[in-house]
Amino acid sequence: MPVRALWWERGALALLDQRELPGRTVVRRLRTAEAVAQAIRTLAVRGAPAIGVAAAYGMALAARRGGSSPDRATKLLGSTRPTAVDLFVGIDAVRSAWAAGEDPLEAAHAYRERVVEACHRIGTVGAPLLRRAHGVLTHCNAGALATVEWGTALAPIRVAHERGAKLFVFVDETRPLLQGSRLTAWELARERIPHAVIADNAAGHYLRSGEVDAVVVGADRIARNGDFANKIGTYEKAVVARENGVPFYVAAPWTTFDARRASGRAIPVEERGPEEVLELGGRRLAPPSSRARNPAFDVTPARYVTAFVTPDGVLRPPELASRLARRPLG
Ligand code: MRU
Repeated sequence: MPVRALWWERGALALLDQRELPGRTVVRRLRTAEAVAQAIRTLAVRGAPAIGVAAAYGMALAARRGGSSPDRATKLLGSTRPTAVDLFVGIDAVRSAWAAGEDPLEAAHAYRERVVEACHRIGTVGAPLLRRAHGVLTHCNAGALATVEWGTALAPIRVAHERGAKLFVFVDETRPLLQGSRLTAWELARERIPHAVIADNAAGHYLRSGEVDAVVVGADRIARNGDFANKIGTYEKAVVARENGVPFYVAAPWTTFDARRASGRAIPVEERGPEEVLELGGRRLAPPSSRARNPAFDVTPARYVTAFVTPDGVLRPPELASRLARRPLG
């Protein structure tokens, strides 16, 4: 069975609680916008496209329950996580339908379909780039769990694998919350795609040794000039890939492109709680008096990107601004 991160079921948003994976498969059924906001904030649902879809359903739940307004629901859901622009695109897709007197739930379903279809197309567009690759490095989880179905970075890997490519995936563990070792490895293991989890600080070693000959990551927000935000640690992988002549691809649906931000300097970076760094599995690692800094994302300059893999084709960074001018958002 292919992985599905979330779906609509008998009046509720059902989602796989990603905090519990890979140990337990727990489905949560959310019936209020407040519950959806909490699930996004606590990373029960995560990954830019998936939180956009969850927020779209959160808006629909607010509309169905009554007692809320498009503005109030937008404020609630929009305050959950600042970096992934998909969150705001998902909210807006339902907000405008709601404000126009259309069915908000139908708008949420349509938004979900649009995201799933876009990710499927990313797989088809991106697979040929990996035709000659043997070792592919990915960071965080940009799979079906992060996008509802298919994934962004994992979609070309999935399609290439289905077509018989002999790919081996190097999975960055992705501290502090281990989206790589917990979630990406879980998805790859289910589909029997050969892979190994590596410590985050091992990636440079494999990029230099030649065992990794392509890098594919997702994104949380891509500015007009091609600078992009993704999970903390992406920037250093991009720099080391360039240093070693390894192509670095960023796969994303149009909902992740933010034509309103001229460059990465305008992308807000979420700072999360220190306990995520100071503890592991609830156990304190650092001395009691130590503090921590915990930026959830970093911004990689466009010059390190070989190409963006979009639903409509492969784009080099210099081609992006004119493409976005023709197609502002979504
Ligand atoms: O904090 P997270 O787990 O939501 O961060 C997710 C990422 O950084 C992903 O790489 C990104 O959203 C792309 S998902 C297709």
